[in-house]
Amino acid sequence: MKQKFKRVFQCQSCGYISLKWLGKCPDCGEWNSFVEDKIESEGFKKRFAEAAKPVAINSVEIIVSERLSTGIGEFDRVLGGGVVKGSLILIGGDPGIGKSTLLLQATDNIAKKYGKVLYVSGEESLLQIKLRAERLQISSENIFLLSETLVERILECAEEQTPIAVVVDSIQTVYTEEAISAPGSVSQIRESATKFMNFAKSKGVPVFLIGHVTKEGAIAGPRVLEHLVDTVLYFEGDRGYAYRILRSVKNRFGPANEIGVFEMTGMGLTEVENPSLIFLSEHATASGSAITATVEGTRAILTEIQALVAPSNFGMPRRNFIGVDYQRVNLLVAVLEKRGRLNLAGADIFVNVVGGLKITEPSSDLAIISAIISSFRDTPLPEGLVVFGEVGLSGEVRAISQTELRLKEASRIGMKRAIIPKSNLERLKEKFNLKINGVRSINELTEILGI
Ligand code: TYD
Ligand code: MG
Repeated sequence: MKQKFKRVFQCQSCGYISLKWLGKCPDCGEWNSFVEDKIESEGFKKRFAEAAKPVAINSVEIIVSERLSTGIGEFDRVLGGGVVKGSLILIGGDPGIGKSTLLLQATDNIAKKYGKVLYVSGEESLLQIKLRAERLQISSENIFLLSETLVERILECAEEQTPIAVVVDSIQTVYTEEAISAPGSVSQIRESATKFMNFAKSKGVPVFLIGHVTKEGAIAGPRVLEHLVDTVLYFEGDRGYAYRILRSVKNRFGPANEIGVFEMTGMGLTEVENPSLIFLSEHATASGSAITATVEGTRAILTEIQALVAPSNFGMPRRNFIGVDYQRVNLLVAVLEKRGRLNLAGADIFVNVVGGLKITEPSSDLAIISAIISSFRDTPLPEGLVVFGEVGLSGEVRAISQTELRLKEASRIGMKRAIIPKSNLERLKEKFNLKINGVRSINELTEILGI
């Protein structure tokens, strides 16, 4: 007789299924990520109810989905202008970064404005949530707490209560009876999330799923969840800093890569409306510091990049880069050695983005290079200087997008001078209250800076 369940091994990072245990996942390359799991055999899989029929594109009606405001401006902006009804939103981040705090604050605002919100916690007791709520001065009568981990019972309760929104804290602690593996495993997470999605879509109620990021930097079963949900937000930041960045990685209802900046205070998270000022607030004109303008979503932000180049005491020089892409900086160091004729081979190099921001844009290349040269020569860059541009392997400075947006922010903050790619300068249409230099190569950059 055919078995209902099949024993398999599943990668906890990407969901890849193998019949044997493997040391390394052939799909995502993760080591040691396979655990034993059981899945339903093919023959027993449920068939989908009815087949859909093709529809002419012009006959599809446009329904503008209604949005709910979370009452937190930065949060709404990252969501693309509020929470879309019936959407499934995943909020990931390291433990202790402030996910529960943010959601509890949003819950309070939604409850006050629209009505009942169900906050399900499988992590904390009702007392712990109440204590946090006291601290945050949360007073809405419309917040209903539920301490439960079985998905079927959560949904039963949600249907009975008919809330305006549901928060599940966290997706790793809940489990469904339909999957047989342990809570937190890929198949449990996927099955549970699918159930919440069906609920959200059929009832038009937005569901927030909180997910912990594992130490490798991905939500357990991230790919499985990322393509399932409508919106993926990551809460980033160093726990040592008070600043937190909420970033949309995927959004079916708004721009991706939009960020919201928060500060963790004794009274919960407060919005930071002018992030450039924060990231530059302690900026000192010492050698090794450069200011760049990065575009995050629809907004330009000025940040400081610091570099420290020191002679190495060991045979193997140390390279430590925080907040920037490791491979990218290594590449820039190689370009500096070969094209800029800087002897960096025997030097320890450290690069850090101030304030815990993570920069993914190649537009910061020129600022990273400027910071490294400045530290190497032990000469500070001119005060009020902002630098941006992509750098190629032959040391050429390449054009980047949204130059105007960056320059506008720089002049608003009171910068005096900008060094940008020459080709961007030639295409510039607006006038700015800044002295702007265009450079074609890193050698032109050092000439202009005189270092
Ligand atoms: P929390 O929201 O519990 O994090 P997560 O749900 O992402 O695990 O936040 C935990 C941290 O935030 C904790 O270290 C204490 C701090 N915190 C404050 O600094 N101020 C506050 O008002 C609150 C509620 C928490
Ligand atoms: Mg929490």
